[in-house]
Amino acid sequence: MLIIERGNIMNYNMDESTKQWTRCTWEKLQNKLLAESKRIGDKIPYIAENGRYLEDKAETDITWWTNGFWPGMLWQMYHATKEENYKTIAQAVEGKLDAALDQYRGLHHDVGFMWLHSAVADYRLTKNERSLARGLHAADLLAGRYNPRGKYIRSWNKDRAGWVIIDSMMNIPLLYWASKVSGDPRCQYMAMDHADTLLKYTVRGDGSCNHIIVLDPENGELLKTPGGQGYGSGSSWSRGQAWAIYGFALSYRYTKKKEYLEAAKRVAHYFLAEVSRTGYVSVVDFRAPKDPVYWDTTASACAACGLLEITEYVPEYEKSLYFEGAMNILKALDKSYCNWEPDYDSILQMGTASYEGEKDRHVPIIYGDYFYLEAVLRLLEKSFIIW
Ligand code: GLY
Repeated sequence: MLIIERGNIMNYNMDESTKQWTRCTWEKLQNKLLAESKRIGDKIPYIAENGRYLEDKAETDITWWTNGFWPGMLWQMYHATKEENYKTIAQAVEGKLDAALDQYRGLHHDVGFMWLHSAVADYRLTKNERSLARGLHAADLLAGRYNPRGKYIRSWNKDRAGWVIIDSMMNIPLLYWASKVSGDPRCQYMAMDHADTLLKYTVRGDGSCNHIIVLDPENGELLKTPGGQGYGSGSSWSRGQAWAIYGFALSYRYTKKKEYLEAAKRVAHYFLAEVSRTGYVSVVDFRAPKDPVYWDTTASACAACGLLEITEYVPEYEKSLYFEGAMNILKALDKSYCNWEPDYDSILQMGTASYEGEKDRHVPIIYGDYFYLEAVLRLLEKSFIIW
């Protein structure tokens, strides 16, 4: 077993057993990703089958929204360990993503997920000028989707001019970043208009969220809230709730607008109440019928990162609620759903892309691994802000 790095434990008033768990998990992560990075290299993985990432999204779908998560994992590992190989592979994937910029058609609001984790991460860590240009190019594409009458950024293409999904809250940090590096506040204004619109129409009074809102593109009036990747209209898709927790917390990070933090906390309380009923692992939709039970571990992993983000902004006496919630999630996932075998691609098992999609149900999905890694690195004060 090769142990590269031990890491310091974050100051969260952790008890001894949690410190021990964190160190041990970090050792397992290092062994796993060292082996995986050698096997996968600069292919772009998505869903593992029988312990192998067979499909290479660089070959099959270069504009696919998850194509940044593998370089994101590599940059996190490079930042944490200073192992050059992670950087080399991440930069090779970043180069391949230029084909997506060239293709253009097929890209939508998920340019945030794709380039924050590749070019922007590269620029943040290396100050590489080519990466800066790629990141700003992606930000311009996102800004080009802004509707000034409706005050939102459209999510999807084709005839869906007024469709907006909660996932977008994870994409708009690309705009906050662009404003910061360019010194031009326009991108930040668009991001905040968008966040305000989602705050108004997406987050419900009880802390749950719509996945999709459809707005009138002429004036931004709310037309309908169709079902999306969850059970249906009015339901509560768990990954969507996780996007809201982390996404609003990130908007607070960049703007310090207190309503964003309040929204993140409200959705976090709802999420924690729900997962406490199922051993801190989320079902795909908190409002789906009890039977059949479909799990989505990726929602829990993403929520854990959002909860840890919230701990950075709340007073001392509030921190333990979010910190302990995150730890309960991470330990529950480790106990039942993590595969630490270095010879097996993928860590987090039992992710689900959408409630109805049978093919992508209860499978390991690359973003589940990304969020698990980020959460553990946060505990060690070894993550960097990729969002
Ligand atoms: N952003 C799409 C998803 O969460 O599946």
